[in-house]
Amino acid sequence: MKIINVDAYQIFDSRGLPTVEAVVELDSGICGVGLVPSGASTGQFEALELRDGDAARFQGKSVYQAIANIKTELAPALAGKEVSQQAMLDQIMCEVDGTANKSRLGANAILAVSLAIADANAKAQGLPLFKTLAPTCSANLLPLPEIQLVGGGAHAQWRTDIQDFLIIVNGAKSYNDTLEVTSNIYRTAEGMLKQRGLLAGAADEGGFWPTFDSHEAIFEFVVEAIQRAGYQPGRDVSISLDIAASDLYSDGQYHLPLDGKSYTSEEFLALMLDWCERYPVLSIEDPFADTDFAAWKAFTREVGDRIQIIGDDLFTTNISRIEQGITEKLANSVLIKLNQIGTVSETLKAIEVTQNAGWLPVVSARSGETEDAFISHLAVATNAGQLKVGSFTRSERMVKWNEVIRIERALSGYSEFVGGSIFQQLKQLEPA
Ligand code: PGA
Ligand code: ZN
Repeated sequence: MKIINVDAYQIFDSRGLPTVEAVVELDSGICGVGLVPSGASTGQFEALELRDGDAARFQGKSVYQAIANIKTELAPALAGKEVSQQAMLDQIMCEVDGTANKSRLGANAILAVSLAIADANAKAQGLPLFKTLAPTCSANLLPLPEIQLVGGGAHAQWRTDIQDFLIIVNGAKSYNDTLEVTSNIYRTAEGMLKQRGLLAGAADEGGFWPTFDSHEAIFEFVVEAIQRAGYQPGRDVSISLDIAASDLYSDGQYHLPLDGKSYTSEEFLALMLDWCERYPVLSIEDPFADTDFAAWKAFTREVGDRIQIIGDDLFTTNISRIEQGITEKLANSVLIKLNQIGTVSETLKAIEVTQNAGWLPVVSARSGETEDAFISHLAVATNAGQLKVGSFTRSERMVKWNEVIRIERALSGYSEFVGGSIFQQLKQLEPA
């Protein structure tokens, strides 16, 4: 089936900020849509999100130029092309843009169309997206969720410096178990915060935004919430952190104003090791700045066989950065965000490169999300094994968790869930 038209318009994300929605129309009358998410703690190596910068319109955040670029440049370049050729169509869009970081047309323009092509192709084939996106025919692994309990950093006006305290239900036997355990811990944590008068609101990804006076207090709170809900920290449920350390790094030091402390790179490395030692931390994202390679390397050497070390700002879903990271043994896992790189096929390639190295991909949402659940399909399509979507509240988050339930049903008995045993793979990596 051939593309006959590509249209686009401005919609709004979960923060109420403008974003791009594109529609790809086929000669059969079938239409696919693509909705673009948006980050707040973005990495400096991400593809460019084009915003108009006109202070008179949405405080500079409107995306009318990206939309115009879709209509005037991408639509004519794609007209008449076969919709099933995702990689070729993505390549055409990259060539029309002509820059390394999609800065001329905007990664938000290109991704909206790329997602809409994938959606139109699935609909044209009459198959669920996870099947048509899948590079192989055995796409059936349900992801282990990473779910945010406490949100901070850029997502909660820096009430805490560490961006995310999340949980991984590593002891669960099924996807549904992970959600039940999470729900129980979530409600328990909410009750504890209410009782202690610490609840200040909800962070951008829906997690609690509490008024703790130190990061240690948050660790203790999370461990207590797990226990009070009836689970054993470490065995049943572990802690996952997103330090988002690039945001904490300036003048060669890591700053934690909540604790009233600043650290050299060596001292911050020691702090990360200490936290991993004293608390049941199973996964840690961006523990160091995206330029502080020495610390990444040393940390991976120390704990890379037992702790998942995820590069988000470090890799920005960029294939050459991931390859460099693999060569230099900087981490053992890659956060996968479609809009960091800007096309579906480059994202699939990033996941493939990650998996081929024996590393773990974690498919992730952004802090500014939409009602779309593409990433749930992406996680299953690639057997990625993990999905990170923010909290266990709010529909822009729940739609992704719920979509996995629907995918499990669609797989009618053929789905797999390996849960926390996915981390066994890290033991097989060559020591750094
Ligand atoms: P962002 O945050 O979408 O604001 O970048 C998510 C993350 O850092 O993982
Ligand atoms: Zn992150």
